[in-house]
Amino acid sequence: MPEINRRSFIGGGIALSGLGLLAACGKSGASSGALVKPTDAIVDAVEKERAGTGKVRKFTLRAAETEFDLGGRTVRTWGYGDELPGKELRLTAGDTIEATLENRLPEESSVHWHGLAMRNDMDGVPHVTQDPVKAGKDFTYRFIVDTPGTHWFHPHTGTQIDRGLYAPIIVDDPREPLSYDEEWTVMLDDWLDGVDGTPDDVLEEVRGGMDHGAHGMGDGGGPMRMGSMLMGATSDLLGGDAGDVFYPMHLINGRPGNDPRTFKAEPGARVRIRLVNAGGDTAYRVALGGHRMTVTHTDGHPVEHREVDAVLLGMGERYDVLVTLDDGVFPLVALAEGKDETALAVVRTGSGRAPGEKVRPDELDGEVVHSTELTADPSVRLEKRKPEVRHEVELTGSMAAYDWAINGRRFDHGKPTEGAFKVEQGQRVRVVFTNSTEMWHPMHLHGHTFQVGSKGPRKDTLIVLPGETVEVDFDADNPGRWLVHCHNIYHGEVGMMGLVAYTS
Ligand code: C2O
Ligand code: CU
Repeated sequence: MPEINRRSFIGGGIALSGLGLLAACGKSGASSGALVKPTDAIVDAVEKERAGTGKVRKFTLRAAETEFDLGGRTVRTWGYGDELPGKELRLTAGDTIEATLENRLPEESSVHWHGLAMRNDMDGVPHVTQDPVKAGKDFTYRFIVDTPGTHWFHPHTGTQIDRGLYAPIIVDDPREPLSYDEEWTVMLDDWLDGVDGTPDDVLEEVRGGMDHGAHGMGDGGGPMRMGSMLMGATSDLLGGDAGDVFYPMHLINGRPGNDPRTFKAEPGARVRIRLVNAGGDTAYRVALGGHRMTVTHTDGHPVEHREVDAVLLGMGERYDVLVTLDDGVFPLVALAEGKDETALAVVRTGSGRAPGEKVRPDELDGEVVHSTELTADPSVRLEKRKPEVRHEVELTGSMAAYDWAINGRRFDHGKPTEGAFKVEQGQRVRVVFTNSTEMWHPMHLHGHTFQVGSKGPRKDTLIVLPGETVEVDFDADNPGRWLVHCHNIYHGEVGMMGLVAYTS
């Protein structure tokens, strides 16, 4: 079995050999070259350089119409199998995943592996990296998984992600440096499907814009609902407007607050909690009553440990935290930022009454960490290097017109390469996100993790606040065509998406 080391998992070894291959093609240096296609030989060549053990792990993902019980209410929706979230996939870095999507949905679909840097043709973006998987058809994803950490998967078609089609994929590090007694994966989700129409109905409604003359606040100064839309949902942590969509339920691992999940452990147990925000339009502030938490990872990548009361997760983001549990019963609460609603799970190490459905632990108002305040662990920090290319990614648009875009251009799935941000294999790339809108956006890059600033965390999804400019760097070591987009599903769908494309 080949030797595996942590650096090779994060792509350290790939850039150079890839460069060699490109030079062999005789076109290195010319940014006027054609764009690399997902089916090009270079994609296969880079895959062969990945540190794999050769061990193949097979899974089947059956996407179909189904019913879930949400706290006594039966909803009709779409899911992966009979569980919400879908069953957790668990692998070890170096494994080859072989996952067959059986699409039994009434429309086309695909699977995107959020957070994994895999070969481009397995990234699961219809019309960009593969043909859509038609209703009734199957498609097998096969690639080396070399990114340890807390990740997840979901479709990349329309608003499907805002149904029940999501699940965690956890990749164990064969040299895991942390020690703990238990671990829990906690998926947060805002839910409306089958309760208040469908996500497609919501998209129809928001597309029309939100300038219906009913701005402002509800009675108590709180958010006010108009159809599926939400007015006046504001959050200081998010720099103003928090979200556009009203959700009747907020779930932790598929359960609403009146029927919460319970995590059991011994008092004194050290637990690694893997938090994932699978929401469509909701940031969550998460705290465990009576405890402080130590942040160890964000988006699967280790950070210098930091003790906090609460963490804030935009859609698509992940945080791993360590907690040492007290004796008793404690609420794990996710506050829907700006929306004045919560999701609940119960942590039990002793006897006592379960917390009430609406409980809000004080820790929610304690010290909250923003990802930009964290520092990358030295094992994953990018080597210091001057960027060879710099791309300005301006976030544009407004709530009133609902014309969310990048650099004023609304992404066209029919012409995905138009306006692409070009990079070359081997380059250090700087991306400058500038948010010129009045709303925050969780910006996600496929196929890579960037570093925030010169020593900030390695991430694939980053909250960019209104008026803010954030610089991030990544190494172009994974040739192909990769989306960069807002992970607010409705913003992304109306056009806040772009493409990072390698030239050959
Ligand atoms: Cu969670 Cu484009 O992805
Ligand atoms: Cu957005």
